[in-house]
Amino acid sequence: MKNILITGGTGYIGSHTCVELIESGYNPIIIDNLSNSKRKIVDRIEKITGKKIIFEKCDISDKKNIERIIKEFNCEAVIHFAGFKAVGESQTNPLMYYKNNVSGTINLLDAMKSAGLKKIVFSSSATVYGKPKFLPLTEDHPVSPENIYGKTKLAVENILRDIFIADPDWRICILRYFNPVGAHNSGLIGDDPKGIPNNLMPFISQVAVGRRSHLNIWGNDYNTNDGTGVRDYIHVIDLAQGHIKAIEKINSLKGAVINLGTGRGYSVLEMIQSFEKASAKKIKYEFRPRRDGDIEINYADPSKAKEIFNWEAKLDINEMCKDIWRWQSMNPKGV
Ligand code: WQD
Repeated sequence: MKNILITGGTGYIGSHTCVELIESGYNPIIIDNLSNSKRKIVDRIEKITGKKIIFEKCDISDKKNIERIIKEFNCEAVIHFAGFKAVGESQTNPLMYYKNNVSGTINLLDAMKSAGLKKIVFSSSATVYGKPKFLPLTEDHPVSPENIYGKTKLAVENILRDIFIADPDWRICILRYFNPVGAHNSGLIGDDPKGIPNNLMPFISQVAVGRRSHLNIWGNDYNTNDGTGVRDYIHVIDLAQGHIKAIEKINSLKGAVINLGTGRGYSVLEMIQSFEKASAKKIKYEFRPRRDGDIEINYADPSKAKEIFNWEAKLDINEMCKDIWRWQSMNPKGV
């Protein structure tokens, strides 16, 4: 049974990837500092999979402990999710973001090196592209992140690239996520942000379940079909499956950068419509001015993932919305 170290494994994408790893015959070893997720998620993963999970509360700054865990559990690769990801917060707390997302990753890589482990899949983001110069976005689109969160992701990508150039024994895969949404179809795990959700779909589902009075739509004057922002929403299960492919192929991945998206964009109003259809709930909304730092439209060219991984997104918008609603209605206040 291949043990895979999962940093940030009780988080939204990490927890769904742990479930899919187990279903694919791997054994996730989870470390998380629980700064943005709950220990209860481990119980939920065990309930879904029927497997006992190894979990240790550990911050990625704790180099010694990570080295011990890698050796103790003979981890064969790392999937690195741990990181702060609130765009707005990153703008007002640059030091906190660079310290955690960049210095934290340097600690993790140092611990891996000391433990003799040189295989990593890194959770990056389409935010590194900044304002699109062309669409759909291919992996060779210029990178120019407009926010600090995106700059920390790009900084780590550059560190990984330099490590590989200096030591070609490393096996590295960088996955650039578009907009992850959805939830496991058990309804036991889902996107459960602390406080007021930054992202669209958790906010919509909290309106539907009565936790929020209405949705503010940030801008309806974009140059899109209905004036609202367009994004490439991808089901978190499809995203998790992309990580399984990366682990399966890791021995041949020498710094590969791969988009994980569906290749098609939906506007805010289209997402509201899909969610209303899937949940039979009406979503009250108000148009408000644009949000600082938002781009108008982005969506992926996912052909490289198809070519290298034989991976493509399979779940559509309706399934995304149905799974979100099942999760939120089963967990009105989150986990
Ligand atoms: C989507 C659309 C908003 C909330 C961010 C990160 C990205 C990734 C996903 C981590 C936009 C509109 C949103 C709301 C709204 N995170 N919106 N009202 O900004 O595309 O991407 O989250 O990897 O890296 O940058 O996602 O869900 O915040 O916004 O109208 O209350 O919904 O303007 O058009 P975004 P989002």
